[in-house]
Amino acid sequence: MSAPALPSGATVAVIGAGTMGAGIAHVAARAGHPVLLLDSQPGATARGLAAIRKDLDALVSRGRLEAAEADAIHARVQPVEAVAALAPAALVVEAVVEDLAVKTALLQSVEAVVGEDALIATNTSSLSVTAIARALRRPGRCLGLHFFNPAPRMALVEVVTGLVTDAAVAAAGEATMRAWGKTPVQARSTPGFIVNRVARPYYGEALRLLLERAAGPAAIDALLRDCGGFPMGPFELMDLIGIDVNLMVSRSVFEQMGHDRRYAPSVIQQELVDAGRLGRKSGRGFHDYAPGAARQGVDLPPAGEAAARVKAVGGLRTAEPLVARLQAAGIAVMRAPADISRHLEIGTARLSKTDGRTATRRAAEDRHADTVLFDLALDYAAAPRLGLARADSCSQAAWDGVVATLQKAGFRITALDDVAGMAVMRAVVTLANEASDALVQGVASAADIETAMKLGTGYPLGPLGWADRLGAEHVAGVLDNLRTHYGEERYRLSPGLARRRINGERFLD
Ligand code: NAI
Repeated sequence: MSAPALPSGATVAVIGAGTMGAGIAHVAARAGHPVLLLDSQPGATARGLAAIRKDLDALVSRGRLEAAEADAIHARVQPVEAVAALAPAALVVEAVVEDLAVKTALLQSVEAVVGEDALIATNTSSLSVTAIARALRRPGRCLGLHFFNPAPRMALVEVVTGLVTDAAVAAAGEATMRAWGKTPVQARSTPGFIVNRVARPYYGEALRLLLERAAGPAAIDALLRDCGGFPMGPFELMDLIGIDVNLMVSRSVFEQMGHDRRYAPSVIQQELVDAGRLGRKSGRGFHDYAPGAARQGVDLPPAGEAAARVKAVGGLRTAEPLVARLQAAGIAVMRAPADISRHLEIGTARLSKTDGRTATRRAAEDRHADTVLFDLALDYAAAPRLGLARADSCSQAAWDGVVATLQKAGFRITALDDVAGMAVMRAVVTLANEASDALVQGVASAADIETAMKLGTGYPLGPLGWADRLGAEHVAGVLDNLRTHYGEERYRLSPGLARRRINGERFLD
């Protein structure tokens, strides 16, 4: 359904002048609206206006905005003292404390003063829009406009519809966000909406790797960044968000999902919060931010003699550029047709891409003691790093030969203990599984899930794009192996992947 955007002369009210409210007021004023800014705390609107001024000045100094325009935008934001002053607003966006009782009481008082056609929006990140709407006389006019922090810079807005939100209201919200220069996606009011739900495994799997002592936070961060192409590793990202905030979101999704174990928070998060290690804001979280604090080393030292020749058994599919890198480093590559597996033979070692089984299990099943696995990479041609894990039965000499050969091909090598699915593969398949469930459950369209994950988190490829690239059969196979290995519900296959594994369809066109 299409609907017109709010006319630019229409008044917008923003309640809550904190981090998000100030940002939203800035965006609305920049789109040309007169903005009324209300906060219950003395001095808060002045601080909000000062924050807007600072953001606008930064844009002026970078040549992105004329000084006169910045002044005009700032002048369009008017602080007000009471809800009664919001009467002229055609759209009200609340960005007050994340508390259902506070939000509903506030929006009831707002509804009593605004016009019959005014839209009432909440910027909640974790509460039910359906529950907030219920408090209103006309719940159909209530929608979620979930901005991301910092609102002036983040393009994504999740336009969230509760069970009773009018379709025309959702469409008007979407059109207005587009008119404000944002990229809106439509999401149904479900726990975590799109981004905060689908991103859960990015943290959850990393925490499980840490719990199992597969590697330290610096090594796991390096793998996700350098091989997965994620803009930040999961631990540095949790440190940035605040471990307490991240734990709160995890807990909220877990509780709203009926304590589905897939969303269970980690004991590690709780322990860090108990210790006051909240991340950057407290100077220490998973990493130490004290001046001069050294980061743990994550590269294996040079391992000695590289192989002069290797044998490629079968094509390596998405990992095929590995072969070209070996050749470019002067290593001769002999080809052989695939037998039961596709792999590289380097000395006595067999090097294969992880499929969700441990190297130790594969060594036993393939009856090949010297088994080494490599992790998933977004682009094997360009990745500066590769993650490796060895079977318990693998000899030191065989392992050293693999490490040295890949180092000669230009990879920095990070070792993981022999955990099922390694680091990047585990993150990618669990993100894809969660995105597929969100799609199956009608949270959003495939295209909107993909857009939301790319814009909301900076992922290089959204999880459904990754699934298409790897193929549903492969993703489902890795998840099956993880489930067998851990025996946990956590890795149960999304019906969307189960279906595509059979019919071969892709998620995206
Ligand atoms: P904040 O603490 O920076 O600002 C909240 C402001 O609301 C404060 O200035 C407070 O005085 C005011 N306030 C509280 N109760 C009020 C009331 N009854 N009437 C008027 N003003 C009232 O909080 P922040 O981070 O801006 O979050 C606001 C909302 O946005 C929350 O619902 C949060 O979940 C959501 N959100 C936060 C994001 C973030 O990254 N901080 C991202 C997306 C959504």
